[in-house]
Amino acid sequence: MKIGFLTCPGTHPGSPARRDDAFEHDYQVEALRPAMAARGQELVEIDWRSPIGAFAEMPLILIGTPWDYHDAEQEFLAQLDALEAAGHQICNSASLVRWNSRKTYLRDLEDRGAATIPTIWLERADSRDIASAFDQFEGNTVVAKRQVGAGAEGQSIHNKASLDQSWTMDQPMMLQPFLPQIQSDGEYSFLFVDGQFSHALVKLPTAGDYRVQSLYGGSEQPLDPAPTDLAAARAIIEAIPHELPLYARIDMVRGEDGGLLVMEAELIEPYLYPMQGPKLGTLMAEAIERRLAK
Ligand SMILES: Nc1ncnc2c1ncn2[C@@H]1O[C@H](COP(=O)(O)OP(=O)(O)OP(=O)(O)O)[C@@H](O)[C@H]1O
Ligand SMILES: [Mg+2]
Repeated sequence: MKIGFLTCPGTHPGSPARRDDAFEHDYQVEALRPAMAARGQELVEIDWRSPIGAFAEMPLILIGTPWDYHDAEQEFLAQLDALEAAGHQICNSASLVRWNSRKTYLRDLEDRGAATIPTIWLERADSRDIASAFDQFEGNTVVAKRQVGAGAEGQSIHNKASLDQSWTMDQPMMLQPFLPQIQSDGEYSFLFVDGQFSHALVKLPTAGDYRVQSLYGGSEQPLDPAPTDLAAARAIIEAIPHELPLYARIDMVRGEDGGLLVMEAELIEPYLYPMQGPKLGTLMAEAIERRLAK
């Protein structure tokens, strides 16, 4: 049984446009392929832009590593719709992907009781919005992020004592209090497969930065989470207002009261940190098998 794994020119094996960080693609495939093969599932890497006919023998398609979809989001969503219309099961589904592609999904999670970071949502923002955010959050440091995007692109941090009065962003933005625990305690990632906990890790920024991404020098360590922290992550999975995702990475940071707050729920093409999760391949293959049997 063939199982598709979507790629893009930046990640597809042998592609002349392969990115330097495509080894992350290889790690994920190496974690999944043998466990899937043991259950009669053949993982087939396939560029997401391939014609629908090329997916003919793949009843289930994993979103994989289509890292360039941000540059062609409508085309990507249309392709997922077309694949579903042709009878393929996409994991995660087109409806989950649509919901997850704007950070406004955090509001839905909050409405359903999830512990979130206080956030001001704006269609565009300037320094006056930052000034009122200092007041509203009763703090001296505010993080401004784009509602759509990844890799901390377009993100900025603002201090009350040195606010740049000319700062402005002409696109949908979100403002949050800066949580200093990101620097001391780090960002926690919890990986779930079909709602089952697979593994966790903690990501720390390099000294002097607050962004945990490897691009900015951040590093990660495997983690055996405390039961209350794991329960907080599980509560995020349960608050998703759609079907259970096949795979999910819940990123969290500790708030003032010591409880974990959701930073992001990554359901589209999260890096799954396979090196820190020895059970990942087996859990995924079992979950795929259950889905194929339905
Ligand atoms: N409120 C906050 N307090 C402290 N640090 C923050 C806050 N918001 C974001 N950060 C830092 O910035 C990083 C990027 O933010 P976030 O994950 O929300 O955006 P992103 O652009 O989707 O990034 P990515 O997709 O690469 O994870 C976080 O991992 C964290 O290190
Ligand atoms: Mg993030």
